[in-house]
Amino acid sequence: MRINNRRYLGNKYRLLPFIRETVTRECGIVRTFFDVFAGTGAVSSAFLDSSLTVNDLLYCNHLAHWTWFSPEPFREAVVRECVEAYNSLPPVDEENYMSKTFGGTYFSAQACRKIGWIREDIEQRFRAGALAFRERAMLVTALLYAIDKIASTCGHYDAFRETAYQAEDFTMGVPEVPYTPSPANALFNEDANALVRRVRCDVAYVDPPYNSRQYCDAYHLLENVARWEKPPVSGKARKMTRDTLKSAYCTRHATEAFADLVAHLDCRFIVLSYNNTGTRANDRSNAKIPDAAIREILGRRGKVSVFEQAYRAFSAGKSDSIGNAERLFLCEVRD
Ligand SMILES: C[S@@+](CC[C@H](N)C(=O)[O-])C[C@H]1O[C@@H](n2cnc3c(N)ncnc32)[C@H](O)[C@@H]1O
Repeated sequence: MRINNRRYLGNKYRLLPFIRETVTRECGIVRTFFDVFAGTGAVSSAFLDSSLTVNDLLYCNHLAHWTWFSPEPFREAVVRECVEAYNSLPPVDEENYMSKTFGGTYFSAQACRKIGWIREDIEQRFRAGALAFRERAMLVTALLYAIDKIASTCGHYDAFRETAYQAEDFTMGVPEVPYTPSPANALFNEDANALVRRVRCDVAYVDPPYNSRQYCDAYHLLENVARWEKPPVSGKARKMTRDTLKSAYCTRHATEAFADLVAHLDCRFIVLSYNNTGTRANDRSNAKIPDAAIREILGRRGKVSVFEQAYRAFSAGKSDSIGNAERLFLCEVRD
């Protein structure tokens, strides 16, 4: 199982050569790389030769960052044994939080019983001291990657496909970490605007949400399984309460939040990804921060250049081939 073996809105995996080349060419040696809105962590994975600071508001992503970038050691044999045991688990008959809450929605009742059983087992082992935090993170991440592959969705959990075939089973992979993460790597699960006040780095890579689609809405189910607090859920999409997970970048306060973030970044270069889906009346996918505001706000900190690469934007609907250019705004910080 590798870092990119998952679907995620706004994931930059396919843009890594473009991002890496641009940063290497324009910023020179990068000793410290700060992935402020890291999501899957794909962009950090292209900077393993730097010390990484990796952050995201969602705990499910934070556990993935622990899997791929933590300097803490882990026992591969322990992780492998657990994954093998989970993969050879006979059908689970007992009902649990997952089957009672989500059976027959995003997953079949059988798959839900297995997900709930495995997630509970990981937690019990961790509480009993049989798993280190990173090993727990790796197993939860392996579970999330595996269940996302069989979910009856079109890539996110805003709704489930009612008539789709539902798999009864799934197979987990063992996370492959064939490198030694830098001992200076630091992983955070915080609001970016609070965190930027405490981090100093060479390059800050900023990839916030672009539009009004909240990531906590799109990935509430993965977040629920990652946190394993077994909250009540409501509505057809079976969402838990997500008040503390809402992002200002998806609201009319996005420009304000961005200005505050940029003002407090302590770095040599700010590299921003922000795409240009154009503007349609009342469309949820319209970008929240106008280009003019981006240029003006970055311009307060230094010289701004823009680099472009043609890219296929994600669309859950009929077409996913809107001819967009993905832009990187690069600001060489003056002071
Ligand atoms: C466009 S995605 C990042 C994608 C990432 N670069 C990748 O390649 O996977 C934006 C991310 O920002 C996170 N996010 C949104 N608001 C945030 C905030 N205020 N602080 C920290 N993370 C936030 C979301 O959870 C989401 O994972």
